[in-house]
Amino acid sequence: MHVDIANALADTASPGISRDALARLDDQVAAAHDRIERGIEGREHGYAALALPEDVDVDAIRETTAAFADTETLLNVGIGGSALGAATITDALANESSVDAYYLDNVDPEWITALLSEVDLASTTVNVVSRSGTTAETLANFLVVRDAMTSTGVDWTDRTFVTTGEEGPLRRLADRHGLPNLPQPEGVPGRFSALSTVGLAAASVCGHDLDALVAGASEQREKLGPSLHSNPGYAYGAIAYALDQRGASVNAMMPYAESLETFAEWFAQLWAESLGKDGLGQTPARALGATDQHSQLQLYRAGPRDKLVTLVRPTERDDHDIPESDAEELAYLEGTGLGELMDAEFDATEASLAAAGRPSVRVELDRVDERELGALLYAMEAACVLAGELYGVDTFVQPAVEWGKNAARGLLGEGDYDEADAVAAKDELI
Ligand code: PA5
Repeated sequence: MHVDIANALADTASPGISRDALARLDDQVAAAHDRIERGIEGREHGYAALALPEDVDVDAIRETTAAFADTETLLNVGIGGSALGAATITDALANESSVDAYYLDNVDPEWITALLSEVDLASTTVNVVSRSGTTAETLANFLVVRDAMTSTGVDWTDRTFVTTGEEGPLRRLADRHGLPNLPQPEGVPGRFSALSTVGLAAASVCGHDLDALVAGASEQREKLGPSLHSNPGYAYGAIAYALDQRGASVNAMMPYAESLETFAEWFAQLWAESLGKDGLGQTPARALGATDQHSQLQLYRAGPRDKLVTLVRPTERDDHDIPESDAEELAYLEGTGLGELMDAEFDATEASLAAAGRPSVRVELDRVDERELGALLYAMEAACVLAGELYGVDTFVQPAVEWGKNAARGLLGEGDYDEADAVAAKDELI
C-alpha cells in the first residue's frame, strides 16, 4: 500500500502545502508520534486499536466461527463501528466467498422484512455485534431476526453468536441462552475495531484469510515512526489535516473499484466521528470512480476550493477484455480491457484535478486482497489517530452519537434520559 502526496503540494495545488510547511508539519508528526507510541505501549483507551495486530486472537475467532461452517448467509446485526469494518472486508472480498453477507444496521422495516423473506434462515448465521450491548437498533433487529427464525422452525440458538463486551443486556442474553460470545477488545472504540473480533468474525465466517489481514496491518504497524515520509498512514493523516487548515474542509474519498465502495463508507465514519469535535474536523464525502466522474467531479474540479479528493485504486486486478466491435468509431477500445479503461479514467481524473490546481492524494493497493485490506484499514486508522493529535481533539469519544442514542432510548421509554426531554416538537410545516 502506497500514498502519493505530490498533488497536494503547493507547486501543483491550491490549497496546497509548501515544502517549508511540509518540513514544519513533519516536526509536528514527530511530537504526535511520541504521544501515539506511548498510548499504544500503555494500551490506553483508543490507542489500543493500533496494537490490535499484536493483540488480536485470530485462533479464538476461528474456533468460534468453525461451528458455523455450513453458513450460506451471514446476517451481521450491528450498527456504526459494529458493522462497517466487517462490511468493508467482506464486501471487498465478496467474489472470493460462497457466503452472502448482509449488514443489518439500519432499522428500515421494509428493507428488513424484504431481506428476511428472501434468505434461507436454516442456513443463515447471525452475528449480533454491540460493544455496549444497549444499542436500540441492534437489539431491535436482533429480536426481529430471532422471531423470523423461530416462526420458520429454525432454532435460533444454534445459528447465533454474539460479539459484545463483558457487561450489558446483550451479554446477559447470550449467557442465558448459552450462545457463543466473542469478547470485544478492551479500549478499542467501535469505529477502530475492524481488525478485532468485531471486523474479523464476519471475515472468518466468509472464509477469508485472517492471518493475511493481520499481517497487512502488522506491516503498517512496523512503519509507524517519527516522520510522515516513512509511513503511508501518517502521510495521509498529516496531509489531510494540513489541507483542512488551508481550506480543504471536505475530503472526498473516491475508490476506483466497486469492491471498495464500502471502504469509503467506513472511512467516512472513522473521519467524521473521530475528528468532528470542538468546531473542528474535515467533512468526509463519498464518491465512486469511475461512476462519479460523470457527476461529482464537475464540483470537485470547478466548485469551491474547499476539497481534497482522495483517489484509491488497486494497481493489479483481473481484467475483462473488451470485445471487438463492428463499428470503426469504437476501434480505440479494441485490445484493451475494462480494467485498463478504469485505470485511464483514474489517471484522467487525477490529471484533471491537477490541471485545475485542485489537491488530490493517491492511495494505491497492490490488489484488493486480505493483506492489502489489512494494511489499508490500519493505515487509515493511524492517519485518523495522527490527525486527531494534530487537531488536538479527543479522537476516541463520540458524545454527539451517544446523545442521540440516549434520546432515542428515552423516547421509547427505556429510562429517564435528559436528552429525550430535549426532543420537543418544533415543526413548522410549509
Ligand atoms: O464508533 C462508535 O463508537 C460507534 O459508531 C458505535 O460503534 C456504534 O454506535 C454502535 O455501538 P455499539 O457497538 O455499542 O452497539
